[in-house]
Amino acid sequence: MKLYNSKTKEQVSFVQAVKDGLGKERGLYCPSYIPILTNIDELLEMPFVMRSQKIMRSWLEEELGGAKVDELVRKAFSFMPQLVRATPRMFALELYHGPSLAFKDFGARFMAQCLALFAGKDKITILTATSGDTGAAVADAFYGLNNIRVVILYPKNKISPLQEKLFCTLGKNIHTLAVDGDFDACQNLVKTAFQDEELKKKLKLNSANSINISRLMAQVCYYFEGVARFREFYGKKVQPVVSVPCGNFGNLTAGFYAKAMSLPIKRFVAATNANDTVPRYLKTNMWEPHKTVATMTNAMDVSEPSNWERIMEHFKKMQVHAIGNNWQMNEANIQGISITEEQTVAAMKALHKQGYVAEPHTALASCGLSKCLKADEAGIFLSTAHPAKFKEKIEEVLGIQIFLPEKLLKASEKKLLSEDMPADFDALRKYLLS
Ligand SMILES: Cc1ncc(COP(=O)(O)O)c(C=O)c1O
Repeated sequence: MKLYNSKTKEQVSFVQAVKDGLGKERGLYCPSYIPILTNIDELLEMPFVMRSQKIMRSWLEEELGGAKVDELVRKAFSFMPQLVRATPRMFALELYHGPSLAFKDFGARFMAQCLALFAGKDKITILTATSGDTGAAVADAFYGLNNIRVVILYPKNKISPLQEKLFCTLGKNIHTLAVDGDFDACQNLVKTAFQDEELKKKLKLNSANSINISRLMAQVCYYFEGVARFREFYGKKVQPVVSVPCGNFGNLTAGFYAKAMSLPIKRFVAATNANDTVPRYLKTNMWEPHKTVATMTNAMDVSEPSNWERIMEHFKKMQVHAIGNNWQMNEANIQGISITEEQTVAAMKALHKQGYVAEPHTALASCGLSKCLKADEAGIFLSTAHPAKFKEKIEEVLGIQIFLPEKLLKASEKKLLSEDMPADFDALRKYLLS
């Protein structure tokens, strides 16, 4: 598989792109082509793992061989997404049934398997920034793997206490730094480290956040599962509108890749919180990030989403290669919507009335969907985290008691092992080299 660097246009293999994480001049690796799947109906009939193996083979078989691809997928996807009817025309695609109870388990576990395969005997350092769930997913995916040291940066006091407990209590090869700043500051520190050639070489630095293309490719697979299960309700007649709760826009990028591979999705809703750079851009065509605002959907508090560049690249490519005029960046393909805190709370209550309990990120996506669905449409909203991960908020809003799954219960009793760090690159550099 060939990928190109969005800045330098240099082409690299999949193995190289996974090892590099971020390309030269902070360029993001983007697929040079999107494989088109012609046997969609047959594919949607298959079990999740087998279908995912076919999807990943279409990208990677030439480079890695079919058997290796199958093994990567089998080891990574040890759990399933589930589609649950939440209201008459809206379905939750629950992506949180993996080990860290978040959608990121899919991408993180696939990436960990890839790196373990590609690294061989080299000792590598995974350096990543998280606004919440990436940390837990990455920590779990890499925990205990030989020759891999993991360093995770997160904004101090800006993630939920339970999220923090889930990845900052493991120890062994997992190291966590509480940075005095917001997620963008953490992400900038990571990006700067990847520009430091000495660090990169000495530590064989690798990023495991959604900058790494292997994660996005794995995420493509659950959109197929969502549409496959949706067909059980609507057959082929109705194509779902899919609403994605967006922060750094990795999830939505994977959605567009899935659609380009010919998965029948009518259009996407890009739902953000008050950090609305993209919805404003879609209206005005002006890229004007504001200062990041803290919200209750804290994993989406991102005002300069890195993966938006990949989405722009994708649309440009598809406009050249796709037949017809169907890849314009307009409301037929993508609707941007910014949801207020009040609307998110109202959506949590509305879903609960229908018998569905959702944490704030999921509720925000459902709110985006309900506002964008037309009378003759039905849709899917992505459910990105288990309600128990936002227990306090749900209990406050809905007045019900949320019980912690066994895994969270155990983590919540453990001692935090994080170290504090200023948002200063020299301090990070010293730490990494120590
Ligand atoms: C629970 C949850 N929902 C949504 C998002 C946003 O996903 P993305 O950054 O891929 O847009 C995140 C990101 O960390 C998250 O943790």
